[in-house]
Amino acid sequence: MTSIVEQLTARVGAAFSAIGLPEELGQCLESDRPDLAPYQCNGAMAAAKLAKKAPRAVAEEVLAQLAGDPLLETVEIAGPGFLNFTPVASVYSGRANEIAADDRSGAVAVAEPRTVMIDFGGPNVAKPMHVGHLRSSVIGDSLQRLFRFRGDTVISDIHLGDWGYQMGLLVTELQSEQPDLPYFDADFQGEYPTEPPVTIEDLSRLYPQAAAAAKEDEERAAKARKATAELQAGRRGYRALLAHFIAVSIEALKQDFNALGVHFDLWKGESDVNDLIPGLVEDFKARKVAEPSEGAWVVRVAREDDKKELAPLILVSSQGSALYGTTDLATILNRRQNQDPDLILYVVDLGQSDHFEQVFRAAYKAGLAEEDTLEHIKFGTVNGPDGKRLRTRAGGTFRLADLIGEAFERAKSRLHEAGLGEELPAGEFDAVARMVANAAIKFADLQNFRTTNYIFELDRFVSFEGKTGPYLLYQAVRVKSIMRKADAEGLKPGEIIVGEAAEAALVRKLDGFDAALKRAYEQRAPNHVCEHVYSLAQAFSSFYAACPILPEKDAAIRASRLALAQATLRQLELGLSLIGLDAPEKM
Ligand code: ARG
Repeated sequence: MTSIVEQLTARVGAAFSAIGLPEELGQCLESDRPDLAPYQCNGAMAAAKLAKKAPRAVAEEVLAQLAGDPLLETVEIAGPGFLNFTPVASVYSGRANEIAADDRSGAVAVAEPRTVMIDFGGPNVAKPMHVGHLRSSVIGDSLQRLFRFRGDTVISDIHLGDWGYQMGLLVTELQSEQPDLPYFDADFQGEYPTEPPVTIEDLSRLYPQAAAAAKEDEERAAKARKATAELQAGRRGYRALLAHFIAVSIEALKQDFNALGVHFDLWKGESDVNDLIPGLVEDFKARKVAEPSEGAWVVRVAREDDKKELAPLILVSSQGSALYGTTDLATILNRRQNQDPDLILYVVDLGQSDHFEQVFRAAYKAGLAEEDTLEHIKFGTVNGPDGKRLRTRAGGTFRLADLIGEAFERAKSRLHEAGLGEELPAGEFDAVARMVANAAIKFADLQNFRTTNYIFELDRFVSFEGKTGPYLLYQAVRVKSIMRKADAEGLKPGEIIVGEAAEAALVRKLDGFDAALKRAYEQRAPNHVCEHVYSLAQAFSSFYAACPILPEKDAAIRASRLALAQATLRQLELGLSLIGLDAPEKM
């Protein structure tokens, strides 16, 4: 399967090599001056130095080589030596039929599939999720879909924050409210209750309460630190309590993630690797990977060429506890033992860049992972209209659940305003509104390159016009309705014969799918998928405006256009699925 761009590149590359220049110079691309020609090659500019000739002279020679090429309708030289190409219509038709017949819509799979773990989501037990977790979830989910589609074996892991100081805070806060629970009795020998002693509401109240109290009161904080150390040392009652906290949190989290359509293969957390920590620490000490420093044990990770010297990773604190970096290292060990991934991607905000740089260097230093097999996939912040990190009106952190709820309400009113979904039964209407809400949130996030910060403007995100998720769903629904009508009239798609300019333009878009996915995959950047899907929807709109489908009298042309519409729909839905969006049947 060869894209049009690849076909052209092969021809032009051969022409360069025929005149004694490197074949790579023949790389073609979609033109940035589509008014002149749809494809271009800039190789003659790059060749000039090598050939010791003016770029235009090189271009002339390449052009002479290409004379009479049956794939090319025109070859022209523009400006100082750009080569512009227009392929013959049969190139478009051939490629379009190939894409239409392919259930991957022209997108090839990787030649050597790898096992890739994606660590994303990362919510913390008992702390409500905020918009930072939303970005991680939305970007991470898109990447897992994309990597899986390209053929890798993907294992996603939510990596719960369920270990450390916040757990000590919770334990001690609950103890002060319900001191008689058996979990706090150090001498208790019996079985602990299977019923959790708290609900998710309790947890969401207890945590902020404890955190605030500990900030004010050093004695309170010391208590929490002690409980944390005891928990990590394996105190039975505390461990039982932790298991309840985790179970209760997971249940609530699953609801949020289901509503978002985000899936995780593993629901592991920091606490799952606790038992690996003592051995790992001993090993690091024995091999001198770790060294003592002011009562603590650290791994020195600074490198000479660091712009800013990277602080050592603290493996064991001076109080003897394992920290965030320690659990991340133990998790790498655990993953190596269980999944043995070729690559681990960590989808975490860029504020944690130093942390991951420390962890990665320490892991490489200790031989836990091979160089370049750990990657921090960074992202920026979601901001409010003031350009600062998004907050609630009261100034608190924006809870994910509230944000999803608000998007759902806006989606409903937007659908009503647009007169959409009126004839749907109430249940279906809500399901459509949910899809619209998710599309709004996810597309707004993913359309930016991930390190870009963006302003959260729900009203704009849920609009059916402009570059939005709901616009894309609406376009997909429109094509679905055309296909349904055709079906009802007994009309069938047939062979694609490209005749009109708008048809060729649509095929060029369809042709670009594979390249867009490759780019997104290589840069771990779903915005390239967004860009593609959006421009495909636009190309379809122009095609549909210029080329009637159902009303077309010529049966062969009608069948060809129907096939084009069907191929577009498949690619649109495939592209949308890679950014986590589903289009409804009707709206
Ligand atoms: N729980 C962390 C947070 O909320 C994110 C976890 C990211 N993943 C990791 N392996 N450290 O900031």
